[in-house]
Amino acid sequence: MPAIIETKNLTKRYGSLIAVNDLSLSVEQGAIYGFVGPNGAGKTTTMRMITTLLQPTSGEAWVAGHSATRDPRGVRRAIGYMPDFFGVYDDMKVWEYLDFFAACYEIPEVTRIGLINDLLALVDLSHRRDDMVDTLSRGMKQRLCLARTLAHDPQILILDEPASGLDPRARIEIRELLLELSRMGKTIFFSTHILADVAEICTQVGIVEAGKLVAQGSLEEMQRRLRPHRRLHITLLGRAEEAQAALAGRDGVLAVRIAAAPAGAAPTAEGAAPPEANLPGAQTVEVDFTGGDEAVSALLRELVGRGLPVMRFTESVYDLEDVFMQATKGIVS
Ligand SMILES: Nc1ncnc2c1ncn2[C@@H]1O[C@H](COP(=O)(O)OP(=O)(O)O)[C@@H](O)[C@H]1O
Ligand SMILES: [Mg+2]
Repeated sequence: MPAIIETKNLTKRYGSLIAVNDLSLSVEQGAIYGFVGPNGAGKTTTMRMITTLLQPTSGEAWVAGHSATRDPRGVRRAIGYMPDFFGVYDDMKVWEYLDFFAACYEIPEVTRIGLINDLLALVDLSHRRDDMVDTLSRGMKQRLCLARTLAHDPQILILDEPASGLDPRARIEIRELLLELSRMGKTIFFSTHILADVAEICTQVGIVEAGKLVAQGSLEEMQRRLRPHRRLHITLLGRAEEAQAALAGRDGVLAVRIAAAPAGAAPTAEGAAPPEANLPGAQTVEVDFTGGDEAVSALLRELVGRGLPVMRFTESVYDLEDVFMQATKGIVS
């Protein structure tokens, strides 16, 4: 997949504070990319540099092949940007608000009426067309703002906390809308400080903390890291290689190894003496595993079904990888 948004070593300093620190990310064309991090992590600052509104201290950003610093007009034509805070235009009707922004994009008057109706239908506000903007609920205002960013039919949407401050129902409406826009072929790069937002809809996730991108990957990769990572210890009275072969490649099995623990071995780095230390001939197979209890029990069934001499089956539960713990620290779960 080609990258449609890319940053390389993007950095922004405010005096001694490094708001964005050497940040390199890449958003695939057609992705719904969730840019997650706690408040103050540097999400808005990153987005403002990508959208050409802020000059980086160093590093670069490209959008659809245009450099944010050398070709800002090219970038702006390609994107629709929704800031985290939008100005209030209370003395306007809903349709006038969209008409105003469409006119800013130099969309001719004759095509504006049809466009406005299409945009209102898309964000489900047709019934509020002639109401004043200030009578809309917060969720409706957010959807109106999203409609505004679509006026020039950009292929890339950059949305800063689009679901922030919304009640659960309004959050779901925004989520549905993002999915709809994705189905229309748009690439969506949005920020949030709520992990659940990205788990629902994102195809790609980047986690930012204290100005640094600490993890980036597909949703599957992230989910694997989010699920508890288990380690199973299976002690057999021989035939450990067979057990290893039977387990390798099974669903949820990340790695299988035969513990190098000769009889009478010293305690391992994890603290406990291997359970087979006093069992001559016994061997322990260690399995890194991700999955539920049913799946664990299926593994044991598999071994026993093959007639392998399992004599102990225990598990140590691992926390998320250190890096991920670090990454999600402080993020609302
Ligand atoms: N104009 C500015 N001057 C000084 N510090 C700023 C400015 N803008 C942002 N910051 C600081 O940069 C850091 C990142 O802010 P921001 O990008 O808004 O984070 P987020 O959007 O993830 O909440 C914060 O510590 C913030 O206080
Ligand atoms: Mg912000």
